[in-house]
Amino acid sequence: MRTIIEPFKIKSVEPIRFTTPERRKQLLSEAYYNPFFLHADDVLIDLLTDSGTTAMSALQWSGIMNGDEAYAGSRSFFRFEAVIRDLTGLKHIIPTHQGRAAEKIIFSLVGGKGKVIPNNTHFDTTRANIEVSGAVALDLLNELGNKPEVRAPFKGNMDVDALVSTIEQTGRENIPVVMLTLTNNSGGGQPVSMQNIREVRDVCNRYNLPLFLDVCRFAENAMFIKQREQGYENKTVKEIAQEIFSYADGALMSAKKDGLVNTGGFLALNNDELAEKARTVLIVTEGFPTYGGLARRDLEAMAQGLEEVLDEDYLTYRLRSVEYFGEKLLEAGVPILEPPGGHAIYLDAKRFAPHIPPEHFPGQSIVCAIYQEGGIRTVEIGSLMFGKRDAEGNHIAPPMELVRMAIPRRVYTQSHIDYCIEVIANVYKQRKSLRGMKIDYEAEYLRHFTARLSFL
Ligand code: F0G
Repeated sequence: MRTIIEPFKIKSVEPIRFTTPERRKQLLSEAYYNPFFLHADDVLIDLLTDSGTTAMSALQWSGIMNGDEAYAGSRSFFRFEAVIRDLTGLKHIIPTHQGRAAEKIIFSLVGGKGKVIPNNTHFDTTRANIEVSGAVALDLLNELGNKPEVRAPFKGNMDVDALVSTIEQTGRENIPVVMLTLTNNSGGGQPVSMQNIREVRDVCNRYNLPLFLDVCRFAENAMFIKQREQGYENKTVKEIAQEIFSYADGALMSAKKDGLVNTGGFLALNNDELAEKARTVLIVTEGFPTYGGLARRDLEAMAQGLEEVLDEDYLTYRLRSVEYFGEKLLEAGVPILEPPGGHAIYLDAKRFAPHIPPEHFPGQSIVCAIYQEGGIRTVEIGSLMFGKRDAEGNHIAPPMELVRMAIPRRVYTQSHIDYCIEVIANVYKQRKSLRGMKIDYEAEYLRHFTARLSFL
């Protein structure tokens, strides 16, 4: 088989800036050893996130010029609405400025004290918005999903038996909605199978509960289904995506991922009454329902992006380029979460730095070393992001300690990735010198964004 190449050519370029290891050492200490504080100009290759870091296409940029900036009833809104209706089959399409705005709106309406919201794994902002409402965000990932060394095709699946017992124990009246996140970002960008979506839908039907999908990376999930699930090999990704949405009563999307835009999102709902309430909150907090906190040109770019993302040459390249990164790291002996996910490679910090216990943030120590070694920015997804404390102040670690290297869409070429592989392999060779860390300052919610750390 021939090399799977980038299915595009580059029309516009942006320089990236080189720094020395000595300078980076200084910059890290000025950033309190938290890469969220680094200036992006001091980052050579930025794998902090695949969110809003997409390169837009020529057609998206021309859509930006074509955007109709009317406050109410903009033509760009109607195009956006038509594209999402065609894709999702959902009735009410409500634009938001990004994913968490959709989360804020929906959980302020259906959340609240005493409520429990199950998901395969809640993303951190989803969890935060649920918890801020007073409700409990419950992760019901299948058992394999928390075993980074085990290869399985659909490690994002929900544990359906656990869902049933949760509903039985909690009482269906206390579960406003069941969720599934496609792909499962916090669990390694792993896909959910159509069979699992169908089984979760069946449980929802049995208990008369709505199913909402977090569809940030629905196209990558659909492509995995095409590649891995029997019966889908000859369907188009669009048909697969439409089937996924056919099981949903609602969807939340941060279009900064598979919407191929730099900002934007939406909330899509079938329920008329809930949609009415959501639009009322939207008007108070985001904007009029035909723009939802965005410039109308952004709606135009999102509509175009949501069509482009279904291009199977793009998705073949996208999944292969991430897999290539993972394969080469495995060849160098570096422990990663297997198999490679759709949007990112995750280093398994527990096996990478086994001498650092979870309460001393092995992942964050690796994040710092990778930046220092090669100017590459990555992010810890482990005890810093998800760790909690019990009543005595003891650390409660999440199941996995990971370092995420998210790949922006259509931005970096294979030689950028080859460089990353060299840098990480080198850090791995020197892993014994990695040191544990401690937190010197943390905020009440989402502490990883603003925490200040130092080495022990
Ligand atoms: N849901 C999932 C699964 C996400 O990955 C994100 C964002 C959101 C919701 C929230 O969307 O950022 O537009 O408000 N994930 C980004 C990331 C931040 O880096 O994975 P948002």
